Amino acid sequence: MTKLGSNESRDCFTSKFGIICAAAGSAIGLGNIWRFPYVAGESGGGAFLLIYFGFILLLGIPVMMSEFIIGRRGQRNALGSFKQLAPGKPWYLVGVMGIIAAFMILAFYSTIAGWTIHYVIQSFANSFAGKGPGEIAEFFASFQKQTFLPVMWQLIFMAMTVWIIISGVKKGIEKYAKVLMPFLVLMLIIMAVRSVTLEGSKDGLLFLFKPDFSAVDSSVLLAALGQAFFSLSIGMGALITYGSYIQKHNNLGNISVEVSLADTIIAILAGVAIFPAVFAFGLDPDEGFGLIFTVLPNIFQQMPGGYFFSIIFFILLTIAALTSSISILEVVVAYLTEELKLKRRKATIMAGIAAGFVGIFCTLSFGLLKDVTLGNFNIFGILDFTASNLLLPLGGLLIVIFVGWYMKKSDVKDEVSNKATIKMRLFDLVMFILKFIAPVAIAIVLFDSLGVI
Ligand code: PFF
Repeated sequence: MTKLGSNESRDCFTSKFGIICAAAGSAIGLGNIWRFPYVAGESGGGAFLLIYFGFILLLGIPVMMSEFIIGRRGQRNALGSFKQLAPGKPWYLVGVMGIIAAFMILAFYSTIAGWTIHYVIQSFANSFAGKGPGEIAEFFASFQKQTFLPVMWQLIFMAMTVWIIISGVKKGIEKYAKVLMPFLVLMLIIMAVRSVTLEGSKDGLLFLFKPDFSAVDSSVLLAALGQAFFSLSIGMGALITYGSYIQKHNNLGNISVEVSLADTIIAILAGVAIFPAVFAFGLDPDEGFGLIFTVLPNIFQQMPGGYFFSIIFFILLTIAALTSSISILEVVVAYLTEELKLKRRKATIMAGIAAGFVGIFCTLSFGLLKDVTLGNFNIFGILDFTASNLLLPLGGLLIVIFVGWYMKKSDVKDEVSNKATIKMRLFDLVMFILKFIAPVAIAIVLFDSLGVI
């Protein structure tokens, strides 16, 4: 794959493995390792996990497949594909919403990615050596409040994202990601083993795997839905954009299942690495945004070779964040280049500057701007909640309605079966989910938690 999204000629992924890597690269990122544990921790653990699985299976995979269908059939960006498939109709507004969500996510994503880079440097400097859980938590609290450093790292991350998109080294990045991501998995496994063998870790496993449904309310359901969509990169057109680069003979159903499975396994591994340690070190699972940054350095302290593990882990996490952030920026850039005919370089720089600017406010919302709040949310929280829990599910809802109800059934069948060259035994079931189950379930969770129904 070269020059993704260039408007002279439409490039495509050249192998199935390439697509899986790109889509999994988009899906696997901070959402699995930073966001999943903190949201699960705030939402009560076990019951959240079960609901999350249910949502991935019943809603996530169908929405992902729908995005691929729209993108590959439309052969354009998130907005243009709707225009192509539903000319003269307002469906393209789903794409507009996706572009807005992409901006918001890129802004707060870069804050956390910036923190991750800071932890790479701190790991090199051995800053956590000899510190106990209390001091590590304090270290994080005082870093997060600062003005200059977190903003600097955030902007550096944004610049890296922009640079990858314009310099066309994306192909290279994917090549590296293919090799490096298995290492991330390996590291997580090792960390999980260390975590569960810590004294007092059992409560963490119980917290994660023993469901207690008494604490489940509509806000937990919405949190699980938002997390499922965020983690799978669905609901805003990232996978419509990637879908438009998938070749006609690739099996969209299989790709959706494989990517979702890989993404879910990594989230669980992160959970098993984090929660036993949280309990072993007497920390609070309900800690919020900073959970991994206060927990992980403690695990590394307790590992032979922890100094190197810590460096390697935070570097790999930064790379995982980059393979996700490029897919977010790509949504905006593909739109600007294909629809507004901007040059790729100019479009990328403009989008990067705009998202970086908003990102500064997110980053400062833990310090200088911490008093700017709406209810319980600071600026970061407002953007995270609005994009992940509202815009992505709403986008997903409209996407399944589009494929389930608006598109002709024969067109959908044609697309998922690659013109009847693949047997689709489950097609009727998939259609039933797309038409009835997914839209109704998403609508109930979304509108119930908003108090609309
Ligand atoms: N799925 C990514 C993660 O888990 O880190 C984040 C993300 C990427 C969200 C692309 C949305 C998106 F369109």
